[in-house]
Amino acid sequence: MNVLMISPGFPDEMPLFTEGLAAAGAQVLGIGEQPEQALPPRARRALSAYQRIDSYWDEEALIGEVRQLASRVAIERVECLWEPGILIAARLRAALGLPGMTPAQSLLFRDKERMKQALDVAGVRTPRHARATSEQECREAAERIGYPLILKPIAGAGSADTHRVGGAGDLDRALAAVKHVRELSVEEFIDGDEYTFDTICADGRICYYNVSWYRPRPLIGRTVQWISPQTLSLRDPDQQRLAPGVEMGRAVLDALGFRSGFTHMEWFLTSSGEAVFGEIAARPPGARSVDLMNYSCDIDTYRGWAETVCRGGFSQPVARRHNAAVIFKRAQGSGRIRHIAGLERLVARYRAHLVCVDLLPPGAPRRNWKQTLLSDGFVILRHPDLQATMEMADRVGTDLQIYAE
Ligand SMILES: Nc1ncnc2c1ncn2[C@@H]1O[C@H](COP(=O)(O)OP(=O)(O)OP(=O)(O)O)[C@@H](O)[C@H]1O
Ligand SMILES: [Mg+2]
Repeated sequence: MNVLMISPGFPDEMPLFTEGLAAAGAQVLGIGEQPEQALPPRARRALSAYQRIDSYWDEEALIGEVRQLASRVAIERVECLWEPGILIAARLRAALGLPGMTPAQSLLFRDKERMKQALDVAGVRTPRHARATSEQECREAAERIGYPLILKPIAGAGSADTHRVGGAGDLDRALAAVKHVRELSVEEFIDGDEYTFDTICADGRICYYNVSWYRPRPLIGRTVQWISPQTLSLRDPDQQRLAPGVEMGRAVLDALGFRSGFTHMEWFLTSSGEAVFGEIAARPPGARSVDLMNYSCDIDTYRGWAETVCRGGFSQPVARRHNAAVIFKRAQGSGRIRHIAGLERLVARYRAHLVCVDLLPPGAPRRNWKQTLLSDGFVILRHPDLQATMEMADRVGTDLQIYAE
């Protein structure tokens, strides 16, 4: 099968999906803004051809280029797992008459208001919500929705420009901070733990699913620098406590008419046990979450996804043996990494359970933790027992310290 992969080398995990497609037997044609020489080697090796384009956003030019490509090679699928490119992929599919998500469908995954409107119709519990394009509309929405509330971009990512507003007095401050955002979502603030429900589907069937737990809630983890945020893929996604979220996840896929590919939903579990919808994307989660699925179940989800694209099925048996956690570390100080403390002791203590240590080496400049959850590096570990996994992950949070200056 000839598959056109949009942005095969960016972001981080894309080369692994590109490789998965090749491993599943596809001829992978890549297209993207990255110069060919800048593609990560793993992506480059997996591609049978690559075409550089000037811009993803000049739609007509892009469609023209792809039509030309299609006159030489029979393109059978167009795939994109990079959030901003999902709509582009849908438009290319429509232009070439290929199966897969349509532009109208993909908009439901990209626009947080349309998404929730569609889910309201289907009876899914969403936070009370409104779209607002001016300060005035925000104030009116706040009146209707009540406090506390959340103010965030309609098409946001990484908790950027997301604010909790405690009361009317707080609203001015938040409005000033989001002045540059054109379209906002105003939402009822939901108090609770935050989980994901991630799936790989083929023809409307869920072939694989995962539930991860964010510790702490992303809005806190992404705004308080000293925290080492964790994502923890749960060994037992079928436990009773999580059932309302998993059930909701299935209902959401149905309501949005999702058929094939990766999905990543986020949801809240309140102290009363109620599941409330957060958001859903038609792509895998980032920040190493796909690796967590692999470590948790001893599978290769990159290839698993690719198989569903090429063959409409998922061949690997899923053995849920471990809880798997990634812990993101942020250095103290600014500038370059100078010293990493506490690693040897953690390795000595948890050797059997550590599966990946990927920290910036001394000398490397710090990354901007506001811009990337990966921050200054991460550790992945796994254990069959949840409590043990949490204890080890928390130890990595407290006992591993990186210093910069
Ligand atoms: N209605 C809400 N109630 C409580 N918290 C919320 C609400 N909406 C958003 N948040 C908090 O803000 C975070 C970011 O919001 P959301 O997931 O909608 O946006 P995002 O920026 O697309 O996220 P991501 O980090 O997944 O890219 C959520 O994970 C959650 O912690
Ligand atoms: Mg989110």
